[in-house]
Amino acid sequence: MGHVTAHLRPAKASKSRGLKGDIRIPGDKSISHRSFMFGGLARGETRITGLLEGEDVINTGKAMQAMGASIRKQGDTWIINGVGNGCLLAPETALDFGNAGTGCRLAMGLMGPYDFDTTFIGDASLSSRPMGRVLDPLRLMGVQVQAQAGDRLPVTVRGPRAPAPISYRVPMASAQVKSAVLLAGLNIPGTTTVIEPVMTRDHTEKMLQGFGATLEVETDAEGVRTIRLEGRGELVGQTIDVPGDPSSTAFPLVAALIVPGSDVTIRNVLMNPTRTGLIQTLQEMGADIEVLDPRQAGGEDVADLRVRSSDLKGVTVPAERAPSMIDEYPVLAIAACFAQGETMMPGLEELRVKESDRLAAMARGLELNGVDCTEGKDWLSVRGRPDGKGLGNLSKEAVVATWLDHRIAMSFLVMGLASEHPVQVDDCSIIATSFPEFMEMMTGMGAEIAEI
Ligand code: S3P
Repeated sequence: MGHVTAHLRPAKASKSRGLKGDIRIPGDKSISHRSFMFGGLARGETRITGLLEGEDVINTGKAMQAMGASIRKQGDTWIINGVGNGCLLAPETALDFGNAGTGCRLAMGLMGPYDFDTTFIGDASLSSRPMGRVLDPLRLMGVQVQAQAGDRLPVTVRGPRAPAPISYRVPMASAQVKSAVLLAGLNIPGTTTVIEPVMTRDHTEKMLQGFGATLEVETDAEGVRTIRLEGRGELVGQTIDVPGDPSSTAFPLVAALIVPGSDVTIRNVLMNPTRTGLIQTLQEMGADIEVLDPRQAGGEDVADLRVRSSDLKGVTVPAERAPSMIDEYPVLAIAACFAQGETMMPGLEELRVKESDRLAAMARGLELNGVDCTEGKDWLSVRGRPDGKGLGNLSKEAVVATWLDHRIAMSFLVMGLASEHPVQVDDCSIIATSFPEFMEMMTGMGAEIAEI
């Protein structure tokens, strides 16, 4: 399976003519990670189509292979033979999750209760991200943890002989933390309970139910969710068709909105309500996004989106919407650069601990390219220039630092398509973690993007 790129490859985007195309975005990253993980764990065969073949997901597949799952590809279908719940093997070497927080944190939960050592490593970005948010609930279950200062990678976990179920209130809006606790609960006798005060993406809950887990969700009048999972139940292989990733969709979508004369149709996009905050926000800004043929596929809402260039106006994004668009703020900030007036984005504390400190990375890149913006502790505001005049940077030295963050790289390449001057980024190789087809798909629609 795949090969992880380690060399920086700079790239440049320049003012483009109207983008035209009818495209299909690669599979959703969250669902793809979980498909490999749950398929590798469940007894029997799991068949997956539409899987995202990005580096992050491939690393999760390799980790599951290292723990006994068999994974192969036949034509367009990935076929997994899982080990059965509770039957994962001790990996012989450290599991390398590369750039992927989701793969790493979910696997920590999955492996935590097993009474052998599992070691987790990753790239420079992942090694600087906090793991305590997952290790703390594991410690409450009796898991022993060795970690670098500040609960950073490399991390080794070892479960107790008799792990105990916990009831855990997730202290931050994080689907990864919720999922890690639930996955640990799969191999603990009794009921593991997760209380989620603010709803985040619900792929773990829905997919575990699909694989046969006894899991129920109760939502109270305030929207607080209580998730109960019976441990040590049987999981059985499934057939999964992964819908297109709304977070990857965001890049061609915003590009089509800001490049005058564009008309782009994007097919088979996941429209799970925990993932559609960006579309709602852009529509409030005046975006022309037509939702075509809304339908159900494999238990998820999907639709096609027709997007045409639009005159955008600045808005204040409600802070409570953040969980449903948490990965989309970098590219929303780019849309805001071309909107009339100010866009205010509060409630962004979680952006500081993504693949990079996305608040800082965005603010520095925007400043470098002539954007009037302000970075707060947990907010960002952007004052736009609808005609793109003065945006971008003519100097060869003006290169945006992407900090091993795919979404920072793609966001600034989208910016360059509508700015008066070009926008340069220090690396486009990292884009392969989530959207390997990005460059080709964008240039295929007429975007002026190239490696330099
Ligand atoms: C993800 C959860 C989110 C998101 C990430 C994918 C998941 O992270 O940013 O890209 O698949 O569970 P947090 O749980 O840290 O918010």
